[in-house]
Amino acid sequence: MSKKVVLSGARPTGALHIGNYLGAIKNWVKLQDEYDCFFFIADWHALTTDYEDTGSYKENISEVVMDLYAAGLEPDKCNIFLQSSLKEHAELHLLFSMITPLSWLERCPTYKDQLNQMDEKNIRTYGFLGYPCLQSADILIYKADYVPVGEDQLPHVEMTREIARRFNFLFGKVFPEPEPLLTEAKVLPGLDGRKMSKSYNNTIALKDRGDVLRKKVMSMITDPARIRKDDPGHPDVCAVFAYHKFFNKEEKEQIESDCKAGLIGCVGCKKNLYEKLAEVLKPIHERRDEIEANPDMVREIIARGNASAQVVISKTMADVRKAMKIDWE
Ligand code: TRP
Ligand code: SF4
Repeated sequence: MSKKVVLSGARPTGALHIGNYLGAIKNWVKLQDEYDCFFFIADWHALTTDYEDTGSYKENISEVVMDLYAAGLEPDKCNIFLQSSLKEHAELHLLFSMITPLSWLERCPTYKDQLNQMDEKNIRTYGFLGYPCLQSADILIYKADYVPVGEDQLPHVEMTREIARRFNFLFGKVFPEPEPLLTEAKVLPGLDGRKMSKSYNNTIALKDRGDVLRKKVMSMITDPARIRKDDPGHPDVCAVFAYHKFFNKEEKEQIESDCKAGLIGCVGCKKNLYEKLAEVLKPIHERRDEIEANPDMVREIIARGNASAQVVISKTMADVRKAMKIDWE
């Protein structure tokens, strides 16, 4: 029996942060053993909001591939590829754009939210409106069964199912209706206690280590009510404690009660966290060293993933053109 197909994409945002790792990539690493996995860098998607500044794209793509490898994705077990290398994604997007009602796109919650939020960028474009249509093409072109995503992406997977139904209704059954695999959003705060995000400049990158990592951890905000070492603390409002809960399961109870009793100081508590983080990230950093030492590896990984993806999508597009009777010759 053939394995079920899993597909997911990541925008080329540059170096991934540990929030990206825990919220998505760690799960991808698990999935690669069980499913036929397609993981891609969604560089065309990045253009929907960042079309004015493409200077860093190549570098960012390379950073993401290095991080995916470092995190534990194995090119022998899964396909890692680049969206813009596979032109059929654009062909299927175009065909879907012909059958997708405008109202579906205009009603999409991510569309409405982002239009309201990003008033400094001009995203009143055709491409940005059609974003979920492109995402549907990315997913359906692999006839994916499962799409691991965070909650924010659920409306896009739902629209993918609707587009699949509409296509099948109009032209005969070509596509399955993929299901989301919801990855629980692990709430690891950023260094300042807000949501971890590149735009807030409060991230810990997956590749951070040594002094860089230590300085970031030492700069984290703690319980603001704690001034002296023996003031009783409130671990539930402390970003450092949120990390201990996650990375230091053996000591978290002790830290919680010692903090509340004013028995430990924040400096020591952060040093302890740094040690734990360094230990957990060590295998990832070793793989990062390996790929950084082999300058051709990023290219090889993408070329290999692109080639396997191409085989699958050539077949799907032959089915699509036939079903639509646009298979001239
Ligand atoms: N839209 C996704 C994001 O912003 C990235 C993405 C593009 C994607 N195509 C996809 C995710 C297909 C899952 C499946 O994170
Ligand atoms: Fe946070 Fe640790 Fe300080 Fe308590 S002792 S406030 S948990 S850093």
